[in-house]
Amino acid sequence: MGVKIFLYPLSIRIWHWLNAVLCLLLIITGISMQYSNPEYPFMRFDLAVTLHNIFGITLTVSYVFFIIINITTNNIKFYKVQLKGFKNRLITQSKYYSVGIFKGQKTPFPISEKRKFNPLQKFSYILVMYVFFPLIFITGWALIFPETIIHDVFGISGIHLTDLLHVIIGFFVSVFMFVHIYFCTIGTSIGSNFKAMLNGWHE
Ligand code: HEM
Repeated sequence: MGVKIFLYPLSIRIWHWLNAVLCLLLIITGISMQYSNPEYPFMRFDLAVTLHNIFGITLTVSYVFFIIINITTNNIKFYKVQLKGFKNRLITQSKYYSVGIFKGQKTPFPISEKRKFNPLQKFSYILVMYVFFPLIFITGWALIFPETIIHDVFGISGIHLTDLLHVIIGFFVSVFMFVHIYFCTIGTSIGSNFKAMLNGWHE
């Protein structure tokens, strides 16, 4: 058995699983709204809208907790980037994932108490948590209160543009989720990272 380090406090674990379940439910209800044929809906359209709104509002609340937890437990320190050399560190990690790992080489940025995320994890988590999520919340809430949206932008409906941005980011978050789950399987064993997010201990 390898060395274990405690990386995920209970508050982060609770947030994470609530977040993951809500994202999945939002993707299901979102896709149902986007593609449902009124004659053969996967889910009744009005029901999908109501559920999507409820899950979206709950996700926003859980995001506020994520920010509070990050500040109060100082988990935020793992999201801080030293810009100098970051690009090279991203390239090194990408090379490891595309070549080195298959040759059985050692990971270039081993996880420790000081470094919870490798550079690619850091980059993708920052992008999702601090760019995609705020954008999807702003556009989502605007669509719940459409009267707040600018009527038209150069002749194009503001609601339409807001919706387009919302759906595009929703797509990016969905892609992130699949890639994220795949990368989570690359641990000491296939299940070790999932276990870590359940009991807090990274192997
Ligand atoms: C879109 C939904 C998701 C988002 C935005 C997300 C985001 C994150 C973030 C930010 C972390 C690092 C948390 C921290 O320690 O500060 C993390 C870790 C983790 N996530 Fe997710 N997650 C999502 C869905 C999932 C799902 C569905 C699974 C599994 C089925 C999963 C499995 C894990 C695991 C195992 C870790 C720990 C390993 C690591 O830090 O990379 N996540 N996730």
